[in-house]
Amino acid sequence: MSTTSGGHLPTFPRRPLFDTLEKATGRSYHSYVSDPFADALRHRLKSCDIDDVDSYLDRLARDRDEALALERRALVGVTHFFRNPRAFEALGERLLEKMARHDDRDAPLRIWVPACSTGQEAYSLAILLHTILPFDTGLPPLRIVGSDINAEAIEFARRARFDSRQMRGLDDEHRENFFFQSDDHYEPLPLLRNSIWFTIHDLLEPSPFRELDLISCRNLLIYLRPDFQSRVLESFAERLRPGGLLFLGASETTATNCANFTLLDSDHRIYAAT
Ligand SMILES: C[S@@+](CC[C@H](N)C(=O)[O-])C[C@H]1O[C@@H](n2cnc3c(N)ncnc32)[C@H](O)[C@@H]1O
Repeated sequence: MSTTSGGHLPTFPRRPLFDTLEKATGRSYHSYVSDPFADALRHRLKSCDIDDVDSYLDRLARDRDEALALERRALVGVTHFFRNPRAFEALGERLLEKMARHDDRDAPLRIWVPACSTGQEAYSLAILLHTILPFDTGLPPLRIVGSDINAEAIEFARRARFDSRQMRGLDDEHRENFFFQSDDHYEPLPLLRNSIWFTIHDLLEPSPFRELDLISCRNLLIYLRPDFQSRVLESFAERLRPGGLLFLGASETTATNCANFTLLDSDHRIYAAT
């Protein structure tokens, strides 16, 4: 099996690639669509200057660092603060309505961000909530868990030193109110840091997070095959409190598991658990 001169793969070697990757990393990607892995394979073939897919698979089986490089590329960690700002505004309005009905003032507001990459989505939610709700004046405490399968991304999210490019999406007011500058980087103030806890977690494995008020899972479902999307959505429904919110990415839906969710806002992909 070899590439053409233009670098196109005649056929994507799905099963051998996923089997080899699983042996090297211990993680299974059989539940994913092929596209991001085919893109990553093309990119790694070029970077390694290998034009024969079988030779690359041999290399992958012997070289764990190469397996990690391919995996990193395929997991597509692209993210930024307030990705789709109007959707965050719409979510803020829904959360305000929800908090008005929140009768137990001592129960924390519990949020899970299961594919948070380097943390910007979790920090955006903390900023949104600290902006619209006065948590310091008697409202329930805010508990956000950000998780991701990518250990390097989680390490970055915990360290939270963003350079100016990584601050993309934040306006001046949010930057001034919630971050301080250290050298040429920005770091979140304790108010934000103390609201969020980051952990490594594979969303396709059982999760300990329950009784949630909001799950924000954006731009991950598109990478899973429909039967696995359905499985993930079912587990979200079990983990949300009745009426708890689900916030998806701009091109994602609960279509593979609609019985458990009511659509609240189709433009901004906000759902409530039934
Ligand atoms: C495109 S990024 C989305 C980041 C962020 N949610 C956003 O919308 O900006 C996709 C993320 O999903 C993570 N991911 C992929 N498979 C995962 C899994 N099984 N469990 C947890 N995270 C996963 C990747 O590591 C990557 O950080």
